[in-house]
Amino acid sequence: MSTHSTTVAPGSPAAPSTLITGIGSLVTNDTAHGTGPLGLLTDAAVVIDAGTVVWVGPAGAAPAADERFDAGGRALLPGFVDSHAHLVFAGDRTAEFNARMSGQAYSAGGIRTTVAATRAATDAELDANLARFVREALHQGTTTVECKSGYGLTVEDEARALRIAAGHTPETTYLGAHVVAPEFADDPAGYVDLVTGEMLDACAPYARWVDVFCENGAFDGDQARAVLTAGVARGLTPRVHANQLSYGPGVQLAVELGAASADHCTHLTDEDVAALAGSATVATLLPGAEFSTRAAYPDARRLLAAGATVALSTDCNPGSSFTSSMAFCIAVAVREMGMTPDEAVHAATAGGARALRRPDVGLIAPGARADLLLLDAPSHVHLAYRPGVPLTAAVWRAGVREL
Ligand code: NIG
Ligand code: FE
Repeated sequence: MSTHSTTVAPGSPAAPSTLITGIGSLVTNDTAHGTGPLGLLTDAAVVIDAGTVVWVGPAGAAPAADERFDAGGRALLPGFVDSHAHLVFAGDRTAEFNARMSGQAYSAGGIRTTVAATRAATDAELDANLARFVREALHQGTTTVECKSGYGLTVEDEARALRIAAGHTPETTYLGAHVVAPEFADDPAGYVDLVTGEMLDACAPYARWVDVFCENGAFDGDQARAVLTAGVARGLTPRVHANQLSYGPGVQLAVELGAASADHCTHLTDEDVAALAGSATVATLLPGAEFSTRAAYPDARRLLAAGATVALSTDCNPGSSFTSSMAFCIAVAVREMGMTPDEAVHAATAGGARALRRPDVGLIAPGARADLLLLDAPSHVHLAYRPGVPLTAAVWRAGVREL
């Protein structure tokens, strides 16, 4: 398999257009451009210009461009959209993972270990850690990443987490309601007042989304409703950590409030599934969390059969899911959650884009941001077929070749 690009001729525009040709298999996620739900094309070409996809079609009909990149028959797909991650933190929880793999149960309380380490870190350390994870994800094909606060749990620490996150992604989520801060252990109502008051005021300028961990040991349905409605009143859009460790009100609340996503969805009643299927709320499944907590996986097949929109994300965090690999999540979702490879790839790209309400990413179509992942494989199916194998051959983010 060969790749080459021609040099830019003198006098060409600073940002030359590029023709990517010789694409053996192209996932467009645009049913107008190809077959099936993935909008698949074979022997295809794509032209990108000024950070945007400007042309998609058969290689034989491609227009000329300033530069040419030969994909050598390999597969091209939209960059992954990781719509759920917790990347502003310090330290790790190796000992907790080790204990879990020796039989201990996972509980929401472990979050406080990372809170202590994060509070003790400098801004520069948190920023460097975050930059490392964004780069690590990019090298595995992730071109859009959401990032939550939630390991500060004071007004200042939550605001700085979001300020730092906003320097790396526009998809920033205020998660002051991750767990009750240790200082408020005896006064959870007082903590909810803080999260919906002064902390929200300090965080809203840096956040697009508001989230809450609605779970035993974190926040109940009434508290979660208070957090989300306060965020909405400040112009944030809700998303909810819902039904991860047990059945509960999170999913119904997410749907009722028009949340962009209900995340985890591991324990769902038939009513929960029906509510998701009848709504625009995306069910975001996070198999890394079940993998790393040795828990039963969510049933993606049941959600898809009901007609719900499903996204796959990493939930990258030091406690319950310390992976930044969307390919790993795809492989697990296919093997353990009843998804076909096509469905899993769709959920990791177009599904994530839906969960972030981003029509410009998660697809390869004229007008879309030029976020592209070239695999060292002839088909996107290899993401599940070759688990654990690094398949990233090249990545473009907003038209810039990153790898
Ligand atoms: O999505 N569920 C809540 N938050 C994370 C866990 C964070 C942690 O354990 O540090 C999650 O799994
Ligand atoms: Fe999470």
